[in-house]
Amino acid sequence: MTELLEPRAIGQGLVRRDGELKVRGTAPYAYETAVELPAYAHPVQATIARGRVTAMDTTEAEAIDGVLLVLTLFTAERLADTSDREFAVLQSDEVAFRGQLIGVVVAETSELAREASDSVRVTYDEQSHDSSLSAEREDLYEPEKVNGGHETDTAEGDVAAAMAAAEVTLERTYATAMYHNNPLEPHTTTAFWDAAGDGSLVLWDSTQGVHPDRAAVCGVFGLEQEQVQVICPYVGGGFGSKGTPHAHVMLATMAARALPGRAVKLALTRQQMFFLAGYRSPTIQRMQLAADREGRLSAIAIDVVVQTSRIKEFAEQAGVPTRMMYAAPNRRSTHRAAALDVPVPSWMRAPGECPGMFGPEVALDELADELGIDPIELRIRNEPEVDPETGKPWSSRHLVECLREGAERFGWGGRGPRGHRDGDWLVGAGVAASVYPTMRAAQSTAVLRFADGRFVAEIGAADLGTGAWTILPQITADALGVDVADVDVRIGDTKYPIASVAGGSSGTNTWGSALVVAARAFRDKFGASPSDGDEITGDVDEAAKDEDHAPYAFGAQFVEARVHADTGEIRVPRLLGVFAAGRIINPRTARSQFIGGMTMGLSMALHENSVWDPRIGQVANHDLADYHITVNADVGDVQAHWIDEHDPYVNAMGAKGIGEIGICGTAAAVVNAVHRATGVRVRQLPVTLDKLL
Ligand code: MOS
Repeated sequence: MTELLEPRAIGQGLVRRDGELKVRGTAPYAYETAVELPAYAHPVQATIARGRVTAMDTTEAEAIDGVLLVLTLFTAERLADTSDREFAVLQSDEVAFRGQLIGVVVAETSELAREASDSVRVTYDEQSHDSSLSAEREDLYEPEKVNGGHETDTAEGDVAAAMAAAEVTLERTYATAMYHNNPLEPHTTTAFWDAAGDGSLVLWDSTQGVHPDRAAVCGVFGLEQEQVQVICPYVGGGFGSKGTPHAHVMLATMAARALPGRAVKLALTRQQMFFLAGYRSPTIQRMQLAADREGRLSAIAIDVVVQTSRIKEFAEQAGVPTRMMYAAPNRRSTHRAAALDVPVPSWMRAPGECPGMFGPEVALDELADELGIDPIELRIRNEPEVDPETGKPWSSRHLVECLREGAERFGWGGRGPRGHRDGDWLVGAGVAASVYPTMRAAQSTAVLRFADGRFVAEIGAADLGTGAWTILPQITADALGVDVADVDVRIGDTKYPIASVAGGSSGTNTWGSALVVAARAFRDKFGASPSDGDEITGDVDEAAKDEDHAPYAFGAQFVEARVHADTGEIRVPRLLGVFAAGRIINPRTARSQFIGGMTMGLSMALHENSVWDPRIGQVANHDLADYHITVNADVGDVQAHWIDEHDPYVNAMGAKGIGEIGICGTAAAVVNAVHRATGVRVRQLPVTLDKLL
């Protein structure tokens, strides 16, 4: 157990410290960095889905006035480390997916660069490609591990025997779509090589982690950490797509190295983001449930199929939440992957848990229907005493409280509201549970000093719109026992000490813990009235990390769906979530995370869908005109509530992560509500009207 901070600044809904800059449009984003004489890069992309580049004629491009540089895979520098084939740009003539980077043009303006890029003549030796995912593919393989370092398969007891012996069984296959992150700010990099004439590199990169970003670039180019500075004070959204650098960061760096003394700016176009910035793999989830007539599970199993690219493996861990969510003596989870001629999948808000809470949470609703048991009651009957996966006690688990409070606030009623008709509209309500693990990275360091009457902490963390700029001072102030107005926390630059990526909802837990260590040491050493220049460093204390409990945040999502009886039009006027996510540091920024996640879950359920065209091997709707994202007009009343939970096992703040739990479970709740309204059970996302008529 950790000694919990006494909350003074913690718990206050302070306004975002970066809010005014952002609203006024003066927060400097990576592409807008003011540099002397910027040059502009535009990629050359492969126009086949598989094969080899046999020639690239750059004569026409180089003849355009204002073109400064044309690099192709035949002329580019050889990189120090090509083991990560997503990062190894322009190193091979092999094309592994349509849109892959094969060259870059740099010019005096972005328009010229784009024009010149289009005029590079490329000759290919094209081969047939294969990009259709199905659970019947014969080349499905078993990854060694799945994303997050999780075991690929787990098993306990005998699911087949339990299925054969059970009073009631359910066996269904569910599918989630391919999804692409579309943060408002696209993926951009400004790269400046040799700005000071000393062989150094400055990258202003839109990233969720300046330190991991730098480490990746240094590895690929064989540079020392001291040679490279990555700067990113503000991020216009990322959702995981900026949690790791993608190929364009290496391309911009490569272009800058070929043009020393000029700052090279590269912004992926919205369309290019659909090829080069990662995406959520489609998932196929075969669920098996076995239960008695009272709804007590004797078996729960999930078999997941996902896709990955041929050049780099990323296996979405969608089977993982089923391992711990409900009690059942017989359990199984498996992951199989197909390596296809497709772009590289990557992180998208709650990889694993988000798609992985779709199959089980819809399956439970189907089982509840079959048994005539309220779906909330069914979940409560299968609450596990301890974590079924590890056997450890929960650090805290208040799922039942979330379900009950949600039912109360939503007006769920006795046995769950049955569907009814309201004029031309079919109305129904649905529920699903949500979960997200509470994670803490192993490494992060904060330095804290007293200067000019202020407490100043520095840590190379990131705020991708989450509120870190605002809540880290709240944590530091309470750890010091001083007024939050007297505390500054500086982030977003590798000139500050090393910090982990803003990912896995682990930022507050990790960086906050480092700041608490630094602040407590500072207070112990310098007392209540420090002198100018007093300074101390604090590291995330791994030794103090609790290993004896299973730490997770939980939640319950409620949805009201209305479906037009004639047209099938689907509306969701009400979304309500109740979360048990530990101490809430700042209710204002936390609410934004919760309702943002829930809205993204609604978007996943109804609107988003990267429509893959297997004939040409690309996303057909690769722009915001055709890739629909839930907008204001699509959401009605979105409410996020939380229960008062202070978890003494997770960290000194008692706080769990909140960035990703809001999206988990939402899509299942939508499907369950639509079923209650219409009687139609949609098992393949998104829920579109053609599936309801
Ligand atoms: Mo999140 S997908 O871990 O940035």
